[in-house]
This record gives sequence, C-alpha cells and structure tokens, in this order.
Amino acid sequence: MRIALALPYELEDRIVPEAAHHGHEIVSRSSSAGELASRIESVGADVALVEATERHLTENLLRVCDDAAVRVLAVVAGEIERRHAASVGLLETVDATASWSEIEGALVALGRVSEVVDIAREPRHGLVIAVWGPAGAPGRTTLAINVAAEIAAAGYAVALGDVDTHSGSIAPSLGLLDEAPGFAAACRLAGAESLTRAELERIGQRYSSGHSGFWVLTGIGRPSRWPELSASRVEATITECRTWVDYTVLDTGFSLEHDEEISTDLFAPRRNAATLAALQEADTVIAVGSADPVGMSRFLRSHVDLIETVAAERVLVAMNKVRASAVGANPAGQVRQTLARFGGIDHATLIPYDRAGTDAAQLSGKTLADAAPKSSARAAIRELVTDRLLPAPVTSLRPRRRGMRRWAG
Ligand SMILES: Nc1ncnc2c1ncn2[C@@H]1O[C@H](COP(=O)(O)OP(=O)(O)OP(=O)(O)O)[C@@H](O)[C@H]1O
Ligand SMILES: [Mg+2]
Repeated sequence: MRIALALPYELEDRIVPEAAHHGHEIVSRSSSAGELASRIESVGADVALVEATERHLTENLLRVCDDAAVRVLAVVAGEIERRHAASVGLLETVDATASWSEIEGALVALGRVSEVVDIAREPRHGLVIAVWGPAGAPGRTTLAINVAAEIAAAGYAVALGDVDTHSGSIAPSLGLLDEAPGFAAACRLAGAESLTRAELERIGQRYSSGHSGFWVLTGIGRPSRWPELSASRVEATITECRTWVDYTVLDTGFSLEHDEEISTDLFAPRRNAATLAALQEADTVIAVGSADPVGMSRFLRSHVDLIETVAAERVLVAMNKVRASAVGANPAGQVRQTLARFGGIDHATLIPYDRAGTDAAQLSGKTLADAAPKSSARAAIRELVTDRLLPAPVTSLRPRRRGMRRWAG
C-alpha cells in the first residue's frame, strides 16, 4: 500500500518503520493538512493517514483527497480529536494507541468498504419526497420529520435527509448529534464514487421509538459548509438512497434562486444547488406554506417559481398553522378560497395550528407521534401520508361470502 502521512513527529517516528517493515511504502510525509493537500495528487498514494487535529486534518484536505480518490484514515487521540474528525465529515478513525496491525487493518478496510457487496438484501427502488416552502419558517422541518415518521409507522424503510443549506435543523429537532453531518458525509463519499448502502447505514443515525424507527442523515450545523452539498453530489446521494430505503424524505431550503443568474462565474459553487437538486430528483414535492396573510402571499408568489422548476403534477400543497386568529372565522374555508382564487390550487392539505403538540415534540426531541400522539397537526399529517403519499391498501373487491372463514376473505 502507498501511504501518505500528515502526523505529528512522534507518531510519524513510530509508524514509518513499522509500515516499511510490513512492506508498505510511505510516499509522502507532511507536517500539516495544507502541505499534504498541495501534494496529494502528485504522490500517487492509495490512502492518507492523518492525525485528527486542526493542523493535520481540514475540510479542504478531505475535499482534495476525495477528488484524487485517496481514502483518508484519521488517528484520534481522545474525544476532542474524534469530534474534530466527525465535524469535518470523517468517520473512519483509529485510536492513537492502536498497534500497527490494527492501523493496517483499518487502512486495508478503507479500500474494501466500497467494494463490499453491501447488505445482502436486493437494492430497492425507493421513492423520494422533498419538503419545500418559502422563507418565514412555514414548517418544512416539522413536516419532513413527521411525514418520515408516519411513513415509517406504516411499515416502510425510511431515511430522512437534511439538505437545507441555510438553516438545517433536523438533528436538534430530534435530539441527535449534529457534530457529524450525515448528509454532507454521504455527499463526500458520493463525490468520490464510494457511497454504498453499507456506508449509508454507517453514516446514518437511527431515530427509534416505540412506534417505529427511521434513518436520519443530519444537516450541516454550520451554514458555511454549504459548498459540500453540490448538485452532482446531492443527486448521487439521492440515487443511492433510493436503493437503500423505500422512501427518502428531504427537508430542503427555501430559496429557488439559481445563483448563476446573479453570478457571472458559471462554475462557482451554488448555495441553493442542494435544494434545486432535491426538488428535481424528487418524485413528489410537498410545498408547505404558513396559513396567515403574509405566509400565504409569500407562498403564492413562490409557488409560481416552484412550478417552473418542478412539474405541477408532482407538487402537493400543504398549508400549515391554520387558525382563525390569523385569517378570521372558518379558517379552512378562507385558506382554500385564497389558494383557489389567487393560485388556482385545489386539494391542499390543511394542517391546524397546534402549538402544544409541536412544542412538546421540540422539547422532547421527538416526533409528534411519540411526543403528542393525539395532536391535531399529527392527525392531518398522517392523513396526508396515507391518502396522498402511500399506495392505497389493496382491498378485495369480491364480497365476502357469508360463513367464509376470516382468513379466506
Ligand atoms: N402546525 C403547527 N402549529 C404550530 N406551530 C407549528 C406548526 N408547525 C410548525 N410549527 C412551529 O413553527 C416553527 C417553525 O417550524 P419549522 O422549523 O418546521 O419551520 P421551517 O420551515 O423548517 O423553518 P426554517 O426556515 O427555520 O427551516 C417551529 O417552532 C415549529 O414548532
Ligand atoms: Mg427547517
């Protein structure tokens, strides 16, 4: 194996002779991530072994290694370094106290992970649902989480992904760690063409409860990391998710602006690329608006832009936080009338304002089904899922003959 190093001197001194003794070639020794990044393309390494300090491991180094198809293993000495590795999206680590044979085993495994014919079961042909809505916090995250939960409760394998590059918030909403953004990690592997179902299962965190469980690919905690979610990486990640689970639910950002319209550099990274890619890939887009006068006018304006990006047949409209105090008596009638008159929108799902239910969910870091099972918002979301997203249950059209045994009908 040809190994490139970015390690502190003491560790380098221990590792180099042992690696050589076991027949490996150290092709480069760098004292910082920047130095290694500048030479990784030319040294012809198979793998890079780096210490998980800010000096030796950076997001840029990972990006450069991904581009050069060099897998990276981080040596971690303690919790702070483990967290640093996770925060830049690197989950492949080995303890600093590990023996050479353990380090070698981890290096060899790096090469193999993507080759493993992963998970015995057949690949699925899953569907993708993107939840989108204009600015003003209409409830995209709330809807994405609870749509995922209700689909999972119906017995399907589900992954919930956070692709909001402005205000990703699924991890804190579900009480999950957000130090290691799962969706960004998946994108990184997808960019290096080594994302597999086994990798997704390793990267994903599991939300579990009495009702059901689903996978979560958390979002970028720091908005400055948005360039990691490029359109091609998001598309490749979604493609792999389809083979992994029955339904992938994506929480997207609010903006539909194509940044290249405001920038002359066509190849510059684009902040809204992740949202646009998710919308284009999705089989169904749930467009959510806030059912108050400002929220509805925003929604109607941006709905026009949405259906320029996504065919109208793929869009389901949901108006959230429906309440009389914002729109007057008969709020459901008012909202339906406004949507029909000004947007030509029929068949919207209306979700009632339910402060108690959504607060209980946030406070406990759970889904509505777990934190407030009788919540009115949950009932409306469940109806949306069963009536408009899941296939209709198969029912026998033949009338059951009297006296027929139950299982035979
Ligand atoms: N039906 C509802 N009734 C009452 N409050 C709600 C309802 N749905 C969502 N909320 C609350 O509205 C706020 C915004 O919801 P959420 O975070 O889901 O919106 P968002 O569109 O994802 O916003 P952001 O722009 O921050 O991503 C949260 O406090 C949430 O609990
Ligand atoms: Mg949100």
